[in-house]
Amino acid sequence: MAILVTGSAGFIGSNFVLDWLAGSDEPVINLDKLTYAGNLENLASLKDNPNHIFVHGDIGDVKLVSELLEKYQPRAVVNFAAESHVDRSIHGPEDFIQTNILGTFHLLEAVRAYWQKLPSPVHGGRIEGITKADFRFLHVSTDEVYGSLTKDEPAFTETHRYEPNSPYSASKASSDHLVRAWHHTYGLPVLTTNCSNNYGPYHFPEKLIPLLIVNALAGKSLPVYGDGQQIRDWLYVKDHCSAIRCVLEKGKLGEVYNVGGWNEKANLDIVHIVCDLLDELRPMGVVSGEVVSGESEVVSGESKIVSGESEVVSGESEVVSGESKIVSGKSEVVSGQTRHFPLSTDHFPLSTDHSPLSTDHSPLSTDHSPLSTYRSLITFVTDRPGHDRRYAIDARKIERELGWKPAETFETGIRKTVQWYLDNQDWVNNVLSGNYRQWVEKQYGK
Ligand code: NAD
Ligand code: TYD
Repeated sequence: MAILVTGSAGFIGSNFVLDWLAGSDEPVINLDKLTYAGNLENLASLKDNPNHIFVHGDIGDVKLVSELLEKYQPRAVVNFAAESHVDRSIHGPEDFIQTNILGTFHLLEAVRAYWQKLPSPVHGGRIEGITKADFRFLHVSTDEVYGSLTKDEPAFTETHRYEPNSPYSASKASSDHLVRAWHHTYGLPVLTTNCSNNYGPYHFPEKLIPLLIVNALAGKSLPVYGDGQQIRDWLYVKDHCSAIRCVLEKGKLGEVYNVGGWNEKANLDIVHIVCDLLDELRPMGVVSGEVVSGESEVVSGESKIVSGESEVVSGESEVVSGESKIVSGKSEVVSGQTRHFPLSTDHFPLSTDHSPLSTDHSPLSTDHSPLSTYRSLITFVTDRPGHDRRYAIDARKIERELGWKPAETFETGIRKTVQWYLDNQDWVNNVLSGNYRQWVEKQYGK
């Protein structure tokens, strides 16, 4: 048997695949379009693992997905693939409609055709391989589809009405509805998870927590939107992955499971916690190795990142890094072999107004004396339009019915996360410089 996982070069998907293959010999077919958020470097440790089969492609490509399903006969499809950043969705909603809605629709159609052809279980008899009854389609979604809570409202349960407020959450809500309808209308065996904000290793530094760590280490401002009192419910990414494995194994068909860490925190508190951890683990003024520091500059209005010797110009879809310039790349990796595909450089990170590093172009703090604290870098900036005030997940159903609970507290998870970023500065530098886009060629190409 095998599973097909989409979007698994991204943050949560790559953690999921790494965890899956650490605990199982069951092969993973990894389908990812490698947008700006897809980073095969996240999966570098699987390079020689024959159970990891990477395929470069779009969930909206029905022909490709159908071929993969026919070829590998997976017992499950886990759909992580999405455009996932709220700020980007505000600046450019079209990709969100394209992947999150139309992509999910096409994926569902390819999966439905595959599933309908699977043999039905024969009473008392044996069928080799996967049957219709064994198959699962698990759709990974977000708590943001439920909208925003006031300070005193109870946390989101699975029956909370959908009230998405951003283009991102509206597109995810649409995909959830499609998945639901494909179950009710066609009988497709689906499961949906709606999870709260994740944090942990391999998190792209356009999102709050990795942005704080990366900016702080570079001596840059830590942008806090509005008054910083917006509340999110944080879950360590490995706990999200264990919840998905649990739902895949034990979830009831057609059901929705909310996943959360019972960790509601205001953004400003998160900023303080990260600053204090960095003060402890990497005090200011201590040389921090290779992390991009004084030489780097990010100018969001012009979508231009200058980092050391490399320059990235996102609007023009061009990456210039050191001596090499990539406009289109060449290799696709299937089972460690090399094929050809375009390595597009569009949507380069950090190009939106509110994105990290974009709200302050001057170094805020030049005081790197040992007595300084990273809190001195905090800067309040213009609020995000339509900013949801509070998310909170009621995760009692998944605990009661499936026995899942998070393993990490926020305190243990955030410490691991900060330490991971300190220990993986090459990964950070490759993301900031754009060099991660060359990973496929460097690692697998000729
Ligand atoms: P991410 O942006 O880090 O990764 C998304 C991945 O999907 C990337 O590797 C990208 O290349 C790939 N992708 C994008 N469009 C694609 C397409 N058309 N076809 C194939 N691959 C495509 O996102 P993430 O944070 O890892 O989130 C994964 C999923 O989990 C998303 O569906 C998101 O809505 C959901 N989710 C995220 C969070 C969170 O806090 N990050 C919380 C709850 C739910
Ligand atoms: P983010 O990580 O983008 O996740 P989401 O918008 O999906 O919740 O943002 C988390 C919270 O942090 C959100 O309330 C917006 C806020 N935020 C900032 O205050 N500053 C920032 O630079 C970023 C990226 C986010």
